[in-house]
Amino acid sequence: MPESDSPVDTTATTVAEIMSTPVVTTGPDATIATAAEQMRHRKVGSVVIVDDGRPIGILTERDLVRIAAAGADASSDPVGEWMTPDPDWVARGASVSDAFMSLAEHGYRHIPVVDDKQLVGIVSMRDLMRIAQIQPAENLAHEIPKGLEGVVVAETVIGDVRGLEGFSHYRQYSAVDLAERRTLEDVWYLMFDRELPTLAERDAFIDEIRPLREIPGDVADALPTLARLGGDAPPLDMLRTTYSLFATSLAFAPSLDVPAAELRQQALRTCAVIPTLLMALYRLRNGREPVAPHPDLSYAANYLYMLTGETPPPEHARAVEQYLISTIDHGFNSSTFTARVITSTGADLGSAIVGAIGALSGPLHGGAPGRALDMLDSIGTLDNAEPWLRDAVARGDRLMGFGHRVYKTDDPRSTMLRGVAERLGGDKVELAKAIEAKAIEVLTELKPGRKLYTNVEFYAGIVMDTCGVPREMFTPTFASSRAIGWCAHVLEQAADNRLIRPSAQYVGPPPPQPVPDPA
Ligand SMILES: CC(C)(COP(=O)(O)OP(=O)(O)OC[C@H]1O[C@@H](n2cnc3c(N)ncnc32)[C@H](O)[C@@H]1OP(=O)(O)O)[C@@H](O)C(=O)NCCC(=O)NCCS
Repeated sequence: MPESDSPVDTTATTVAEIMSTPVVTTGPDATIATAAEQMRHRKVGSVVIVDDGRPIGILTERDLVRIAAAGADASSDPVGEWMTPDPDWVARGASVSDAFMSLAEHGYRHIPVVDDKQLVGIVSMRDLMRIAQIQPAENLAHEIPKGLEGVVVAETVIGDVRGLEGFSHYRQYSAVDLAERRTLEDVWYLMFDRELPTLAERDAFIDEIRPLREIPGDVADALPTLARLGGDAPPLDMLRTTYSLFATSLAFAPSLDVPAAELRQQALRTCAVIPTLLMALYRLRNGREPVAPHPDLSYAANYLYMLTGETPPPEHARAVEQYLISTIDHGFNSSTFTARVITSTGADLGSAIVGAIGALSGPLHGGAPGRALDMLDSIGTLDNAEPWLRDAVARGDRLMGFGHRVYKTDDPRSTMLRGVAERLGGDKVELAKAIEAKAIEVLTELKPGRKLYTNVEFYAGIVMDTCGVPREMFTPTFASSRAIGWCAHVLEQAADNRLIRPSAQYVGPPPPQPVPDPA
C-alpha cells in the first residue's frame, strides 16, 4: 500500500500499529533503475535493501536525485553502491514518539521496523506527523528538538538542502550549477515558474520585470525624510520600513483574497524594487541623490550601477550575480519559515516579506558576512590567526562565517565563492584562505564532534568587498536575492494553504494557582 495513502490509526502508540507492510525491498545487486521503478510503481519513497530478510541498507528518493546529479549509470550501477548502509531501525514494539524522535534527530524520512533481526515494516515521517498533528501535544512535545532541528514542517517543490552531503538545489537543479551557468533572471524565473526559461521566455521575463524596478512616486518622495528619520539605523531596518510603505502604497490585499496571478505580480514587484529601495536609501544616507535603475542592465550590473552611478566592470557584475544566485533560497531557513508562517494566516505578501526581513537581520542568520570580514580585519596577519581564533573560541565567541544548522561538511556555496574570490583576486583572498584553514583546525580541536566548517558568509564578504559593495550593504544584498526565495515560498504556501499553528510544551508552575488579590 502506498505509504502516503495508508489509513493512519490516530490512537496508535506503537510503531507496529502504523507501519506500512509488506515493505518494498530489493537485493544489493539490483540496479538503481530497478529500485527506482519499484518506488515509482509502488508509490513509495524508499526501498529497503535486504539480505536474507535482514535490512542492510536503504535507498530513498533523495538518493535518486543525488545519484542523478552524480551522473551515475542507473541501468548498471548496483543499489549496494549507493544505498545508506546499516540504516537505523526501530523495533515493532517501539513507541510512536521514539520513532518520531529517531527520524527527527537524524533528518531521515523513513525508518525500517525490525523484529528479531527481520524486516517487518517501514514507517515514514509523514505517518508520524499525521499522528503528531492529532494526538495531544504533550505526547510528543518533549521529543521535538530545540530549535526544531531536523523537523519536517511542510512539503515543498522549491528546493532543499542536504547537509551531510554538502548539496543544495533549487527545483531539480544544483544551486551551485545554476550560479555557475545561468543568470539571476533565469533562476528567478525558475523559482517563480518552475522551469528554466527558453531564450524567448527569458526576454519576455526581462521585459516584464525591468519596469518594476522603479519606486512609485509617492514612496520615492518620502525616502529623503525616511532616510533622515532613520538616523544610524542599519540599512536592513530601513528596508523593512520603506518596503512596508511600498507594499501599503500599492494596497497589497490579504493573500487569502488575492488571485494567484495578482499575487505573482506583487511578488515580481517586490523582488524588482528591493534593490532600488536599498540603494536609494544608502545614497541618501550618505548625502547623495539616488541613481535611477538602468533599463538596459541586468539585475546584478544594475545593482552595482545604482550604488555608484557607473556601469560596473563585467567581472564584478558576474561575481555579485553568482553570490546573489547562490543565496536565493536555502530550505526552511528562519526567514523563509517566517514568510510562510505569515502567509499561512492569509496576511498580505508585504507582511510576509517585512517579517522575513526582520528574521534575516539577526546575526545568527543574515548578519554574518560583515562580521566575518570584521574578523579577518581584526586578525590582520596569518601569525596572529591561531592565538586570535583560539582566544575567541575559548571565550565562547562564535567565529562568524563558520558553522551551519544543516551543513555538517563544506557549504557548497562557500566553496564556489572561494573560487569566485580567487578569480577576482585582491589582497584579502590569500589571507582569508589561510585563516579559513586555521579556523577549521581550531574548531576541530576545541569543538570536537560539532562538525563546524565554512559557511556561505565567509567568502561572501570578500567577494562583495572586492566588487565595491560597502560592508554595511552585505546583509541587505543577501536580503535582495533572498527576497526571490521568500516570494517563491509565499506563492507556494498561498497556493495550498493551511494555517501553520504549532504547539509549545508548558513547563511553568502547575496551573491553576489561586489568583491573589492585589497586595
Ligand atoms: C549558524 C549557527 C547559528 C548554527 O547554529 P546551531 O545549529 O544552532 O548550532 P549550535 O548553536 O547548537 O552550536 C553547536 C555547538 O557548536 C558551536 N558553534 C557553532 N557555530 C560556531 C562558530 N561559528 N564558532 C564557534 N563555535 C560554534 C557552539 O558553540 C556549540 O558548542 P557547544 O556544544 O560547546 O555549546 C552557528 O553555527 C553560528 O552561530 N555561526 C556563526 C554565525 C554565522 O556564520 N551565521 C551565518 C549562517 S549562514
